[in-house]
Amino acid sequence: MPATKPCAHSSPSAVRRQVADFYSRYPYPPPAIVTRYQRPAFALERLNLRLAAAGRPPLPPNLRIWAPGGGTTLPVQLALHFPSASILATDICARSLQIAAKIARSLQLTNIDFRHEDLLDSAYRGQFHLIDCAGVLNHVARPADGFRAIRRALHPSGVANLWVYNTRQRWLSDAWQSALALLGATQSATQTNDRWTLARHLVDWARLQPNWRRTREALGAIHPSIDPVNTADALIHPREISFTLAQLWSLLARSGLHFLAWREDHAWDPLNTPGLPAPLRARIATLPPLERFQLIEALAEEDAPYFDLFAVRANPPHSPAPVLPETWRPAFNPSIEFINLRGARAVSSHHMPVLRRTEDSWAAYQNGDAREKSGLWLPLTPPQARLLEQADGTRTVPELLREPSSEPRRALAAFLHRAASSPVALLA
Ligand SMILES: C[S@@+](CC[C@H](N)C(=O)[O-])C[C@H]1O[C@@H](n2cnc3c(N)ncnc32)[C@H](O)[C@@H]1O
Repeated sequence: MPATKPCAHSSPSAVRRQVADFYSRYPYPPPAIVTRYQRPAFALERLNLRLAAAGRPPLPPNLRIWAPGGGTTLPVQLALHFPSASILATDICARSLQIAAKIARSLQLTNIDFRHEDLLDSAYRGQFHLIDCAGVLNHVARPADGFRAIRRALHPSGVANLWVYNTRQRWLSDAWQSALALLGATQSATQTNDRWTLARHLVDWARLQPNWRRTREALGAIHPSIDPVNTADALIHPREISFTLAQLWSLLARSGLHFLAWREDHAWDPLNTPGLPAPLRARIATLPPLERFQLIEALAEEDAPYFDLFAVRANPPHSPAPVLPETWRPAFNPSIEFINLRGARAVSSHHMPVLRRTEDSWAAYQNGDAREKSGLWLPLTPPQARLLEQADGTRTVPELLREPSSEPRRALAAFLHRAASSPVALLA
């Protein structure tokens, strides 16, 4: 019987070699667009606001950031968003590090150190205020060791932003891995071309099968000729393990990390969903957080939100502050610049208290959002739009909410909070 799980029996050093070879061939992500804010403190303030809402102290301006498995672009994005931070970018793929370093030079960024290093071999202790580890823990030989390395490296009051694959969302990758294994296309470097060719033939073939609706739909976003890197990442990765919520919680617990919040908290809260019948609401309100999230996982299936979370070292407080600090003065970022890395020049710069939705800005926003993971699309009601336009940093939240409005004060306060964690707000 051929193994249908890639690398299922490989040693850690074999996994590292195969993964590093894969990313040397397909450095990830293909550099596209990064963003920079005109107000240098904006990203840190936004993050601190998010942490304050979860009952955590703010991170200092001169914070130390680590991006393990940073790839080609994330370290650059972090350096642009946190200009007063010092950033360490590590990766097992030398080519990705070179690409990121070259982009950093072209943008005159001097606050990133690059290091060729395996996350599992790292020996950092208690030193990073922010660890941004996206799309890496799924590709290591022993994920539990990766979580532990992050826990060790985290400053006692620091926060780790972890992004890992959700099993239900990765079924197409699993299907292709199984099919390739059944066809005898193994992981050896000499076979990468064979795997790629077979994977492409499988895509063409599956697209013609009238009864394979779900597979055909999932393949809709896959374009092997136009976008080989993302196609390879989705279909022929040598090592990918995805998790269920229960597995993710167990990995966090075993490493000594505590779940603090989802990046998109509202999307994981069933009580936030429209049309919830009162008896269900009452029942769900009694559930502990994990079970509420599992309800979303079970019902939304592959459409559940991403596993993109903040984790901390110490047990977070049980009832985080639900609203903004009274004294907080929201000031929305007046300008966001989209930098096209393919030409390393700014493609567009929008000056806005509120970015109006036009064809151009929407396209630019979507590209930017894909790169920075933290955007938020806000279809605004007129009272919400008025509120955002008035949030210029001169008035506190209670002052802003003082004006009579057709929307309840509580709802507007919650909206303000959500908007504040977004780099841009769009008027629908
Ligand atoms: C999917 S890419 C993600 C890149 C980046 N974090 C991002 O979000 O854009 C995965 C990256 O992790 C790196 N990687 C995989 N296993 C690693 C390990 N054990 N230690 C360090 N980096 C690793 C790969 O070389 C690759 O650059």
